[in-house]
Amino acid sequence: MACLFRRSIAAQLSKVLGTSTEKLIPMVSAVPVSKKQQTLDFRISVNSVLEKGCLRSGSTVQSQARQLSEQLTCDDVVTEIAVGQGTINFKVNRSLLAELVMQEISKKGSKYGIESELFQGYPCGRVIVEFSSPNIAKKFHAGHLRSTIIGNFIANIKQALGNDVIRINYLGDWGTQFGLLGAGFQLFGSEVKLKANPLQHLFEVYVEVNKMAETNEDIHKAGQEFFKKLEGGDEHSLRLWQQFRSISIEEYKKIYQRLGVHFDEYSGESFYQEKTQEILWLLDQKGLLKKTMQGTGVVDLSPNGDLSAYAKVLRPDGTTLYLTRDIAAAIDRMEKYNFDQMIYVTDKEQCSHFQQLFGVLKIMGYNWTERAFTGHFCRCRHVPFGLVKGMKTRKGDVVFLEDVMNEARSRMLQNMAASKTTKELEDPEGTAEKVGVAALIIQDFKGPLLSDYEFDWDRVLQSHGDTGVFLQYTHARLCSLQRTFENRIEEQFNPACLQDPQAIALLQHLLRYDEVLFQVSEDLQPKHLVNYLIMLSRLASIAHRTLHVKGSLSEVAMARYLLFKGTASVLSNGMKLLGITPVEKM
Ligand code: ARG
Repeated sequence: MACLFRRSIAAQLSKVLGTSTEKLIPMVSAVPVSKKQQTLDFRISVNSVLEKGCLRSGSTVQSQARQLSEQLTCDDVVTEIAVGQGTINFKVNRSLLAELVMQEISKKGSKYGIESELFQGYPCGRVIVEFSSPNIAKKFHAGHLRSTIIGNFIANIKQALGNDVIRINYLGDWGTQFGLLGAGFQLFGSEVKLKANPLQHLFEVYVEVNKMAETNEDIHKAGQEFFKKLEGGDEHSLRLWQQFRSISIEEYKKIYQRLGVHFDEYSGESFYQEKTQEILWLLDQKGLLKKTMQGTGVVDLSPNGDLSAYAKVLRPDGTTLYLTRDIAAAIDRMEKYNFDQMIYVTDKEQCSHFQQLFGVLKIMGYNWTERAFTGHFCRCRHVPFGLVKGMKTRKGDVVFLEDVMNEARSRMLQNMAASKTTKELEDPEGTAEKVGVAALIIQDFKGPLLSDYEFDWDRVLQSHGDTGVFLQYTHARLCSLQRTFENRIEEQFNPACLQDPQAIALLQHLLRYDEVLFQVSEDLQPKHLVNYLIMLSRLASIAHRTLHVKGSLSEVAMARYLLFKGTASVLSNGMKLLGITPVEKM
């Protein structure tokens, strides 16, 4: 679709500029639709053509744009050529526009926008995405929720583009806190409560024992004892720890399922307890393990070798750190998976941790951390995100992911109760959950990932404006239209029936989908896709209001029906990439 258009425009330019058509194709881009005025369909920036050395420099951009445009001519595909601000704009044949966009969407289905010339030669490989990674017995805070949905989105995009994606959850399942937890559980833990509500019970025990340990030296010691036993491989302690771990994972899985998220591997810090010893040995062998005055084992990361910047890998008491385990995990994953890229998703407070991790790996001679995979990005990449403030439920602070999910569902159910269609739903709770999750995701993905934001339930769940509820609502409305007309319209598709400005605007917007996906694939920022889908929904609402299917001549009705069906399909594909399950009724 866009393919033929971009290619024709690029081919014309190629004749004038002497640059290959293939090279020019990515420089032809669809013009973003504006609600205020009608726009032409495609444009090229004269500067980008200049930059690539395709045009003689000397005169001003504007005069070069004029000169260049004068050498181009309209043909069967291009029907108008105009000079813009530093650009040349193209209008394409209106009938072809409708025909090709509709044809392409129905032919490609979920591959629409992905099987595009923009992704030709796009490198595919094995990609590890490590995300969510909560800490057993501790709070599942807003940061973990963000990591979960952002990581899932990145994995979805990578997978859709044809990569072999491995989703890893790297649990905080080791460390001195397990000493206290074990000691606490032996004192006042309950097997019954652990079975009934594991996450809740482990958290209670953990909070309680921590409080006691502050004033009671014996408890503190018992914790240390327990952890020493764990590290020493004591069978009884290990069995208890194993039980905490597996029971927690079972609980996490249930909630991830509600969120539509899954993992290929539940890994964790505990896996690398032994391997850290090898790492320390290796560092020592290579002469990289230095000692500070306090006896901490460090790796020098300073450019001048004066320890002005270093990474701690060994405590004076001989225990290893979070970083040491991450070094072991990265090397192990490279050996096990031979990945082409590994992406870590955590909040921005861990930026320096990952800088240190990649720094140490590089010094150790693992040059794969640096080698480029896509574009200018390295093989190991940290995707940081900002903090969420004020995420509370009616019960108070968020402790578990389940609380957020339940709150979103119950609030949404309440909002939906006002609408009459809700009464006809087979599974109102399930629908409310899907809409609620959409609302959480869109709120989170609207801005740049690095920005902090203030959480506000009312704003999140608004049915109008830039919300997930609006996307779900638009999708459900388009589906309802499809249900009404599915078996009724039998007509050949006639592109001449899709020439109203509202239909053209929708078609032009649909034309840009591949460019938006391309942008997302480059910088992994979901906001491009979110903005695109919100605009798609707005244009669809406008078109839905004005371009009636019911009561129109059958040929017109057919064309409009197909336009809405195609719009619903792209909306649904985009929402799924974001991690949203589109609802068909609400
Ligand atoms: N469990 C950690 C936390 O809650 C996040 C782990 C991130 N991944 C990693 N490889 N360090 O902060």
